[in-house]
Amino acid sequence: MRSFLLYCRAGFEKDCAAEAHDRFAEKGWNGYPQIQEGQGLVIFNADPFDPEDRSIHPPCGLDFVFARQMVDDAQLVKGLADGDRATPLVQALVSLAPKGVYRELRLEYLESQEGLGIAPFYKKFSPALFNALKRQGLKHERQDARAPILHILMPSYEEAWVGRSWPSRTSPWVNGIPRLKFPKDAPSRSTLKLDEAFLTLLDEEERKKLLENPGTAVDLGAAPGGWTFQMVQRGFFVTAVDNGAMDQALMNTGLVDHKTEDALKFRPRHAVDLLLCDMVERPQKVVPLMASWFKDRLCRWAVFNLKLPMKKRFEEYENSLQQFWELSGLNPDTHVLRARQLYHDREEITVLVRPKVLGRG
Ligand SMILES: C[S@@+](CC[C@H](N)C(=O)[O-])C[C@H]1O[C@@H](n2cnc3c(N)ncnc32)[C@H](O)[C@@H]1O
Repeated sequence: MRSFLLYCRAGFEKDCAAEAHDRFAEKGWNGYPQIQEGQGLVIFNADPFDPEDRSIHPPCGLDFVFARQMVDDAQLVKGLADGDRATPLVQALVSLAPKGVYRELRLEYLESQEGLGIAPFYKKFSPALFNALKRQGLKHERQDARAPILHILMPSYEEAWVGRSWPSRTSPWVNGIPRLKFPKDAPSRSTLKLDEAFLTLLDEEERKKLLENPGTAVDLGAAPGGWTFQMVQRGFFVTAVDNGAMDQALMNTGLVDHKTEDALKFRPRHAVDLLLCDMVERPQKVVPLMASWFKDRLCRWAVFNLKLPMKKRFEEYENSLQQFWELSGLNPDTHVLRARQLYHDREEITVLVRPKVLGRG
């Protein structure tokens, strides 16, 4: 049986496990989860329905909503002791790089208190690990897109998970979390959410298409302006809809039209390139609203948040997805829909919708 590590937000392990169950089953795998509640980790143990069929692959680590990162072929190395933790770990890692080459070594940690406490230890530990890998003859090839990324995740000082992932099927960041700097003039911390959404939900080509050729956006529930700020920084003209006050410096740019209206009713005179929505509203309101903008061809792309209930969040996500397709009249042949619980999201997930054919028209 193969073990996969799925990293999620602490407290969302059951949702991540429910999603893993479905995503693996869709790809022809049978499995069961081990949940580490409050640790932000799900271990999914799985086998293909047909072990002889070499064409069966696990789901891609980038396709999960609740997992930020997936690590494959995981094994737990126990009995680590002061003095030489590196040797047993490197022995386990060698079997994960059968061609003797690895692209990256990632030292990762759990989101629990203990996990976060271990993170600083890695600074001291990593030179010993790199040396031990070298002694074992493993080559570090940073540019090799086909070499595995090796992962170490230490739940405690006595044991560690080791595993691997593949560059095209995994997050580019340690723990699946991009390190973002809070822009000094941004009006709210929410600004990082949209920044992360652009990095996480879009690939390079999509970012180029959407962001490098500034156009128009509507931001529903915009105040004080963290999301609007991201777009203005990129040269977009934004209609910001909110009864609350917008940041004055942002208004002074001349790139924002503030409408103090009900965002559930607002409609633009002309279609916009991008619809944004960060209102604290139930999905039962947000999903039909987003769908109606697409149905009426008022936007081409959208990024919006869905605040999830306390329980059965994966089920709620699936229902929302289905409702969006039904009400918008779109479908997966015409549009791409991706969703992720971002590091900067709390009880919500962030959704991207874009036309399948890239371009704004
Ligand atoms: C989480 S805040 C948005 C933060 C914003 N994205 C930022 O980055 O600064 C939610 C906003 O939605 C607004 N809002 C909620 N319901 C609304 C409605 N029906 N019409 C207009 N604004 C609404 C609230 O006034 C609030 O400012």
